[in-house]
Amino acid sequence: MKVFVIANQKGGVGKTTTTINLGASLAKAGKRVLLIDLDPQANLTSGVGFSQQFSKDSWQNTDTAPYKSIYDVLIEKLPISSAFVTTSIENMLLVPSHLSLAGAEIEMVNMLSRETLLKNAIKDFKEDVDYVLIDCPPSLGLLTINALCAADELVIPIQCEYFALEGLGQLLHTTKLIKTVNPQLNIGGVVLTMFDSRTKLSESVVNDVKEFFKDTMFQTIVPRNVRLSEAPSHGKTIVEYDPNSTGGIAYASLAHEFIKRF
Ligand SMILES: Nc1ncnc2c1ncn2[C@@H]1O[C@H](COP(=O)(O)OP(=O)(O)O)[C@@H](O)[C@H]1O
Ligand SMILES: [Mg+2]
Repeated sequence: MKVFVIANQKGGVGKTTTTINLGASLAKAGKRVLLIDLDPQANLTSGVGFSQQFSKDSWQNTDTAPYKSIYDVLIEKLPISSAFVTTSIENMLLVPSHLSLAGAEIEMVNMLSRETLLKNAIKDFKEDVDYVLIDCPPSLGLLTINALCAADELVIPIQCEYFALEGLGQLLHTTKLIKTVNPQLNIGGVVLTMFDSRTKLSESVVNDVKEFFKDTMFQTIVPRNVRLSEAPSHGKTIVEYDPNSTGGIAYASLAHEFIKRF
């Protein structure tokens, strides 16, 4: 079992889209995958259609979730396997999130070993899984730090946009600091997302990132593709929604590269 953290403190760069669709494509390729939604916004949880099982009221209630979530695992110390739910993709499990996780960062501050709550939760878990993918919130707060402490490999999605590399120094610095607590943490790879072949800007971002990250960059570049943005509103991964779209093909290719690398 190898644990991956999908992080970039910038919002909207494709962390959740990559976690869902890389996860689904890995599962499709025969791997056993566990997704952990560590973002209080719970976009991953709704993106795979899980929240659709609940009424809007109970889903949006900020106090308690109508199901067991990552909040219960971190704060109430529930065994992580008790929060597993199946998804419409065979071989892909999910630990859902809920808005109540927003308060967790504050609750965690006074907890013992607050940086390693997730690491300890995963350590206990012995089910047969090949890859654990952790989706992070857009910040370098305690939730992301927990994910970095729990992981073997950091995967950084970078949007082919202006200021793409901005803030990455901070992420890399944090990663360096985390290595003192979690020495096995590696930079597993950088994924470029939302590439637009019509713009010179996308090209120049690719070149900048190539120069900066060299071999850690995945060859697969995820194009901007409307099917990728539509899929979560149907509670579907691209594997179910439109596997032959340019986005679907890109994530399948990323999964193959991923399997080769790890
Ligand atoms: N390759 C892509 N093509 C088109 N839209 C995308 C692509 N990747 C992500 N999006 C859309 O961009 C927005 C931000 O992506 P998301 O994965 O939620 O980013 P993050 O988790 O980093 O905040 C979402 O609306 C998502 O549907
Ligand atoms: Mg997200």
